[in-house]
Amino acid sequence: MESCFPILLRSFCFMSLVLQIGYALDSISAGQNITDGQTIVSPSGNFELGFFSRGSSKNRYVGIWYKKLSAGRVLWVANRENPLNDSSGVLKLTPQGVLTLLNHNNGIVWSSNVSRPAQNPIALLLDSANFVIKEGNDNDLGDAIWQSFDHPCDSFLAGMKFGIDRAKGLDRYLTSWKSVDDPSLGDFTYRLDSSGYPQLIVRNRSVVQFRSGPWNGLRFSGFPQLRPNPVYSFGFVFTQNEIYYYFNILNSSVPSMLVLNENGIAQRFSWVDRTHDWILYSSAQTDDCDTYALCGGNGNCNIASSPKCVCLTGFMPKYPSAWEFADWSNGCVRRTELDCLGGDKFLKYTEVKLPDTRQSWFNESMNLQECEQTCLRNCSCTAYSNLDIRGQGSGCLLWFGDLMDIRQFNENSQDIYVRMAASEVGGSSSRKTGTRKSTGIIVSTMLSAVLLLGIMVVFMKYRRDGQIFRFCHQSHGEDLDLPMFDVTTIVNATNNFSEDNKLGEGGFGAVYKGVLRNGQEIAVKRLSENSRQGQDEFKNEVVYIAKLQHRNLVKILGCCIQVDEMMLIYEFLPNRSLDCFIFDREKGVLLDWPRRFTIINGTASGLLYLHRDSRLRIIHRDLKAENILLDNEMNPKISDFGLARSFGGNESEANTKRVVGTYGYMSPEYAIHGLYSIKLDVFSFGVVVLEIVSGQRNRGFNHPDNHSSLLGFAWTLFRDRKPMKLVDPSITSTFNPAEVLRSIHVALLCVQQNPRDRPEMSSVVMMLGSESALPHPKQPGFFSEESVSEASSSSGGKHQQYSANEMTISDVQPR
Ligand SMILES: *[C@@H]1O[C@H](CO)[C@@H](O)[C@H](O)[C@H]1NC(C)=O
Ligand SMILES: *[C@@H]1O[C@H](CO)[C@@H](O)[C@H](O)[C@H]1NC(C)=O
Ligand SMILES: *[C@@H]1O[C@H](CO)[C@@H](O)[C@H](O)[C@H]1NC(C)=O
Ligand SMILES: *[C@@H]1O[C@H](CO)[C@@H](O)[C@H](O)[C@H]1NC(C)=O
Ligand SMILES: *[C@@H]1O[C@H](CO)[C@@H](O)[C@H](O)[C@H]1NC(C)=O
Ligand SMILES: *[C@@H]1O[C@H](CO)[C@@H](O)[C@H](O)[C@H]1NC(C)=O
Ligand SMILES: *[C@@H]1O[C@H](CO)[C@@H](O)[C@H](O)[C@H]1NC(C)=O
Repeated sequence: MESCFPILLRSFCFMSLVLQIGYALDSISAGQNITDGQTIVSPSGNFELGFFSRGSSKNRYVGIWYKKLSAGRVLWVANRENPLNDSSGVLKLTPQGVLTLLNHNNGIVWSSNVSRPAQNPIALLLDSANFVIKEGNDNDLGDAIWQSFDHPCDSFLAGMKFGIDRAKGLDRYLTSWKSVDDPSLGDFTYRLDSSGYPQLIVRNRSVVQFRSGPWNGLRFSGFPQLRPNPVYSFGFVFTQNEIYYYFNILNSSVPSMLVLNENGIAQRFSWVDRTHDWILYSSAQTDDCDTYALCGGNGNCNIASSPKCVCLTGFMPKYPSAWEFADWSNGCVRRTELDCLGGDKFLKYTEVKLPDTRQSWFNESMNLQECEQTCLRNCSCTAYSNLDIRGQGSGCLLWFGDLMDIRQFNENSQDIYVRMAASEVGGSSSRKTGTRKSTGIIVSTMLSAVLLLGIMVVFMKYRRDGQIFRFCHQSHGEDLDLPMFDVTTIVNATNNFSEDNKLGEGGFGAVYKGVLRNGQEIAVKRLSENSRQGQDEFKNEVVYIAKLQHRNLVKILGCCIQVDEMMLIYEFLPNRSLDCFIFDREKGVLLDWPRRFTIINGTASGLLYLHRDSRLRIIHRDLKAENILLDNEMNPKISDFGLARSFGGNESEANTKRVVGTYGYMSPEYAIHGLYSIKLDVFSFGVVVLEIVSGQRNRGFNHPDNHSSLLGFAWTLFRDRKPMKLVDPSITSTFNPAEVLRSIHVALLCVQQNPRDRPEMSSVVMMLGSESALPHPKQPGFFSEESVSEASSSSGGKHQQYSANEMTISDVQPR
């Protein structure tokens, strides 16, 4: 909106709205107009309506945008399809109550629709960003003659109704912009579909791209992430006349909105006052399994498994050879046909996104037994579930024909019962089938054993190049598209891996600095020979980091594989890692408080991306000061994904026998029981923040006043209302007390003993960015030094880039 400099309407105001105090004009009355350059502002000053252009285009549009929050987002556009080509436009309210946009020769470029003639109309811009035409003396907005909220563009705002109103003949849905600078209608729509049980659907023209799944009383079945949160409340209304989704903002200083972007991704943004920018709060589409019907009919998509698609139990690929090559689109067919009259059974699936409901039938008052009986009575019914999962569950939803677009979550508390031939379910099935099945199992087990042996032989032979090579190009059936570097290029760049170029020891090998012929500086991580563990981590790193892109994650440039060599090539970060600064008296001064606060926020936003917004949802598992690298402007970049794990649902928890990571940063439940979830990273983040504030290491913490551990020390000071005593002397001249206090407070919440007491990274980002009240922290995990040293292991070495010799890997379990 650079080209748009709205001028307030002093003269207009003077002439026609004498009663308005000042110049904050928020309406047009009948017969009046505004011209290009003039604007209307909502009463609180939050929103503004006027003429604008985007990018280098000369096209002029009438639109509504945030006035106080800049950041250039246009929320609504009137003449999307008919831009003005100059600044001669006039927006006028006719005495009949129709808004018209006229060009230089009074041609109508755009106009609003009227539902009925008006007597004394007025057009108002409300504080919700709704532009409303109503009778001047009528204060009931439900009675409006016309409102922009009934004609949304690409943005769904608080207070809007997303869906249909049969009585008024309205269908409110989002249509993407053509491009970032072109508001004309793009190819994508996000629309409520009521052809079966209602669901929201993103389409590319007429092709379905994504489905929200049906509303289950708590949320849409495909949005496990849609949960009560501090930013907005939400709900779904389904009556005879109206079906719509809505949300409301909980704190007016933290606005939030949903946008269908020009690539067809539905994203929710929240405003962060501190950075003065919108942050991506969540995306409707998070990974490949959200692609509509990726696994075809009767397939189930599980992002955490490889391959992603499996057939539902009792089904087999329709075209097995295509299925092998990751073409799942033809889906799966039954192994045994249904026997409707002979009696079929149902197989229960839990934690799923319900299949497409466009061919469904429902009844809100039936219970689950009645539902099952109703399905059994109709031979074309293939599955049933509860409509509403609240409490004991209620209502009945039936599917007919193939089940499309099912995906597996880890935490969605949504079940479905799929109809099967009785013989496939077992139980009272005939013995013959049972025997045949177990023979089948034995044969296939033997076959896989032989296959496995074969693979192992091949693997051992070619494990250096063959296996890893595949990982550089392809993983989980997807192309990683990681550029391959020639080994001589790297040898030349690093001066044949000279000692002078060595930056340090990483998790699985040495790291060297290099300069390519074109002058680009690189960091090369070289897998040390004979390190089994190193190989696993190497693969892990390639698989994960190649798919991640965020300004707070280190960027991988490519890999290099030769018979005896495996290397990863990264962007070079001249300022090495965070620990080089914060734990060093002299260099600590270089990192003043504003920079430290930027590092805290950047790290939080990198982690949030890993946990929620990346296509793979990832737990880093080894966040520490050594793994936070700094670019030349001291922006943080999280590195070292050797131990990272992908997880499916929102808050999945897993258990590992091999506890890997770094003591001092591990959460208690992980160090002791091997349990990990995203809350492990939250804990590590809390430790890092306390280290940044205090300039002291958590591990081996040593204080003259005989305090327990850094966490215990910080908590004691906080509890005794002396938190500033924690602050690193290097930053006493630069720190902002409110920010420091907030950082300590948030960090203490992150290191709570119970993972459930720790906030998720989305909350952490919000907490750091706002001034809202925070919960009081309890005593942190690992309060006392004893519990730390109990689990502690030896360490040593210098601290250098790429996590140095800090004993990243530690086996707690005896081998
Ligand atoms: C807009 O309003 C101004 C002043 O009120 C008037 O002179 C002008 O003719 C109006 N323009 C149109 C197109 O109605
Ligand atoms: C704008 O479009 C009109 C026709 O729609 C044309 O007559 C006029 O010359 C155009 N003006 C500019 C500045 O291109
Ligand atoms: C106005 O309503 C008519 C009929 O109801 C419809 O065809 C037309 O597209 C509407 N125009 C706008 C701008 O909504
Ligand atoms: C949308 O569909 C068109 C063809 O109709 C295709 O070229 C384009 O790639 C699709 N876009 C996306 C994001 O799938
Ligand atoms: C829904 O189920 C209830 C209870 O079985 C029944 O009384 C009612 O008629 C059903 N409604 C419809 C529309 O089928
Ligand atoms: C089964 O349900 C479908 C969809 O509601 C319906 O069209 C069909 O008539 C039903 N068949 C029987 C036998 O009830
Ligand atoms: C709303 O947010 C603002 C700014 O973050 C904060 O100052 C205020 O206390 C919050 N209000 C409530 C009720 O949480």
